[in-house]
Amino acid sequence: MARTKKTRSGIYIKNAEQIEGIRKSSALASKTLVYLKDFIKPGVTTNSIDELCYEFTLDHGAVPAPLGYHGFPKSLCISVNDVICHGIPSERVLQEGDIVNLDVTPILDGYFGDTNYTFPCGEISEENEKLIQTTFDATFKGIEQVFPGNRLSNIGFKIQKFVEKKGYSVVRDYTGHGVGIEFHEAPTVLHYGRPNRGEKLMPGMIFTIEPMVNLGKYKTILDESDGWTVTTVDGKNSAQFEHTMLVTETGVEVLTHNEELWGKLPDTLKK
Ligand code: MF3
Ligand code: CO
Ligand code: CO
Repeated sequence: MARTKKTRSGIYIKNAEQIEGIRKSSALASKTLVYLKDFIKPGVTTNSIDELCYEFTLDHGAVPAPLGYHGFPKSLCISVNDVICHGIPSERVLQEGDIVNLDVTPILDGYFGDTNYTFPCGEISEENEKLIQTTFDATFKGIEQVFPGNRLSNIGFKIQKFVEKKGYSVVRDYTGHGVGIEFHEAPTVLHYGRPNRGEKLMPGMIFTIEPMVNLGKYKTILDESDGWTVTTVDGKNSAQFEHTMLVTETGVEVLTHNEELWGKLPDTLKK
């Protein structure tokens, strides 16, 4: 088999076969979120959602990438309220009014697809509604910047500008990333920063955009007792959305898009 092509900065340029594989794992990732969505309600434990994720993934011929990844003990990340990311499923019981991020990454035929979505648990406050909507919209402000020839840093620049204009903050300690052949590849995709810097986007690049947006301060705390759980410093809530996407000859293909969950893609994206 031909060696996989990489840019000088170590970004894989995926070939047709790899793209098809990552397209399939990404489609399974988004189908997993569609499946799990209905189980998010007051009274369920996050462990029960983890078990459903594990079974659904195996039933579709894949394995959950998080399980055993650098020692992560479960099949997906579940991050509730002030947990920014990498929440570990547990006996925690979901409550009415919680906001719940599910982050799934199946490995199907060796290929990774990575997506997450923040769901309301029952009725949520207007403050949380607005946080979720802003984070959703910020994700697409980033995706709008994905087309060949554009510079990588314009993604984060647009996201940060949008988020801060609305009075929220965007997390800096965790980023998007190349994905597909490995879980986390080059490049690092910042959700903040200055315009017109970094790599030029090229057809065949595949990466995630996954902004974490906070009601309060952007700074994070890592729970040293479990080594994973990341929370906000001020205890205020955080939301996140994540898509895996391919740079095409003319624009972007959102590989983890699923209309049932995400609705129609905005027509501001370059096809
Ligand atoms: N899915 C996360 C991401 O978007 C990574 C989770 S790593 C884990 O990059 F080990 F916590 F699962
Ligand atoms: Co990711
Ligand atoms: Co993810």
